[in-house]
Amino acid sequence: MRLGVLVSGRGSNLEAILRAIATGRLACDAALVVSNRPAVAALEIARTHGAPTLLLDHHQYPRREQFDTALVGALRAAGVELVALAGFDRLVTSVLLDAFPERIYNVHPALLPAFKGLHAQRQALDYGARVTGATVHLVDEHMDHGPIVLQGAVAIAHDDTEETLTARILAVEHAIFPAALQLCAEGRVRVVGRRVVVGGVLPPLPPPMLWLP
Ligand code: GRF
Repeated sequence: MRLGVLVSGRGSNLEAILRAIATGRLACDAALVVSNRPAVAALEIARTHGAPTLLLDHHQYPRREQFDTALVGALRAAGVELVALAGFDRLVTSVLLDAFPERIYNVHPALLPAFKGLHAQRQALDYGARVTGATVHLVDEHMDHGPIVLQGAVAIAHDDTEETLTARILAVEHAIFPAALQLCAEGRVRVVGRRVVVGGVLPPLPPPMLWLP
């Protein structure tokens, strides 16, 4: 499948995706990497891997729908069939959703529906949760809401900081995001109401580490 990746910053999930493609774990072509912000690390990572890049500055578009129209035009021109939001910091509209129905995947650093929105790791720490994790889900019109494809759990230790917890969650994100995209590329993701039914055997995932002190 031809994959489009939307980024806004650091790009570690983009790198995990590009590595999975390079090592044959993800049967996709990186057709286009689009950033809405200039000079971010993600753009450099894309170039290092030889993936085509595009900067589409959202400040140039007064309305979200106008930005998404430009986005859809660029993704379609690159022949994109599947879209990954890899640390993309814009809310998307029906313009993008309608162009790629059930083909837009997002990764979130918590076990949804817990800790939606920004700073999910800090939210989990502040709440005193013992377990959190990462979620890959289909994108719908609500933030961090669409049907869940894969999740991975991470235990929280008493001395975790936002930094240490973020690092352990990221390791899970880097495993489950390419794995979820691969399920889609293999045509194994079927959406039944709110639930995703995955055909066949699920890929091996990192085991959850539970009950840290
Ligand atoms: C990740 O934690 C992802 O779950 C969230 O934004 C962060 C992006 O990190 N949506 P990166 O740019 O992929 O390193």
